[in-house]
Amino acid sequence: MKKLRTNVSGLTGTIHVPGDKSISHRSIMFGAIAEGVTKVTNFLLGEDCINTLNCFRSLGVEIEVGKNEIVIYGQGLAGLTESKDILNVGNSGTTIRLILGILAGRPFHSCLIGDNSIGRRPMTRVTTPLKEMGAVIDGRNGGEFTPLSIRGGNLRGIEYHLPVASAQVKSALLFAGIQADGTTTIIEQAKTRDHTERMIRQFGGKVETNGLTVTVEGGQRFKGTDVYVPGDISSAAFFLVAAAIIQNAEVTLKNVGLNPTRTGILDVMKEMGADITIIDRNVNNAHEPFGDIIVRSSHLKGTVIEGKMIPRLIDEIPIIALLATQAEGTTVIKDAHELKVKETNRIDTVVRELSKLGANIKATDDGMTITGKTTLGGDRTTVSSFGDHRIGMMLAIAALICTDDVYMEQADAIAVSYPAFFTDLHQLL
Ligand code: S3P
Repeated sequence: MKKLRTNVSGLTGTIHVPGDKSISHRSIMFGAIAEGVTKVTNFLLGEDCINTLNCFRSLGVEIEVGKNEIVIYGQGLAGLTESKDILNVGNSGTTIRLILGILAGRPFHSCLIGDNSIGRRPMTRVTTPLKEMGAVIDGRNGGEFTPLSIRGGNLRGIEYHLPVASAQVKSALLFAGIQADGTTTIIEQAKTRDHTERMIRQFGGKVETNGLTVTVEGGQRFKGTDVYVPGDISSAAFFLVAAAIIQNAEVTLKNVGLNPTRTGILDVMKEMGADITIIDRNVNNAHEPFGDIIVRSSHLKGTVIEGKMIPRLIDEIPIIALLATQAEGTTVIKDAHELKVKETNRIDTVVRELSKLGANIKATDDGMTITGKTTLGGDRTTVSSFGDHRIGMMLAIAALICTDDVYMEQADAIAVSYPAFFTDLHQLL
């Protein structure tokens, strides 16, 4: 059990948040299937991305972890070899869903498992279209859950309308599509993060995007390159909200990724009245935009978050819920059913844990409503991350404005995406 810092009176300083998790995963994957050397700087050495790295080592790829960079010695798609071991993705949904797309095209057998949370997360969203392309996949409950087995090869391109707005499913199909016979066309419901599309181009491949339609040809080859991973806006989000809700705060976040498919939180915070300045530091030829963000104590008002905005801030909803407890009026979050199938059911875990601290928050079928402004307190309250890194970080930020002692169970889950979270936070106090 971890005792959290409470009742703070200010927050100042500068933070370099760790590298983007989504981009770090993809840098290993593209480095592994490319020909030649790939050097990755500012890679996120969190548990999720380390699991991706270990899976590719098991598939025969040589990867060096240096002090300042990761070096991947890719030998092309054909360089991947059958693993003697079961591939363990730990807590990482991105690892399992994206690697399935790669393995779908490889003519050998693989087994995949993860932790208890992964064992509850739906996999048919990826396995159904991959089977349609020709992969042989099975698993518990007819292929819905891990453990999964896959034998790939001989894929054919398909046209597929994504039934959910999911970058993980889109990316898995792109990885399969670049190995298939013919063309693969994916039609999204709403625009989701496009890191895979950008990285296909960065590694010398081709992908066409036209509105919500993404198309790739099969038989592509990639060339190793250098990748700079910008800071993770999903990690920066905890400090953005902390500075906005704490008095006497001014925090600068350096080199944060500003890909427009990820910046929904900035748009929503500005709409709610947050004092945010963005200094665009987009460098020449950067494949992912990034910049510095300055945020100060703010007067906030409630808002409605729905529709196309949801995929642009899906991972930030727990911390936005906390922000809304400190805004005047009601905030409504809807069209966010996907929250139910994240690391935890985040509608349940957010509502349950923030209620314990005195928030006025109610679950709905596709989101939540929060009415503020509420003083958060708790009387020696114990909250839990339930093993979900983002719930853990949200609760640690909530505790900062609590009037009484707060303790957290399963705080170690935070290492999934932000191992130095508490060190960075304490530096600002
Ligand atoms: C991710 C996509 C999102 C996000 C997850 C990372 C990715 O999931 O929630 O944390 O790296 O592609 P979905 O695509 O399943 O919504």
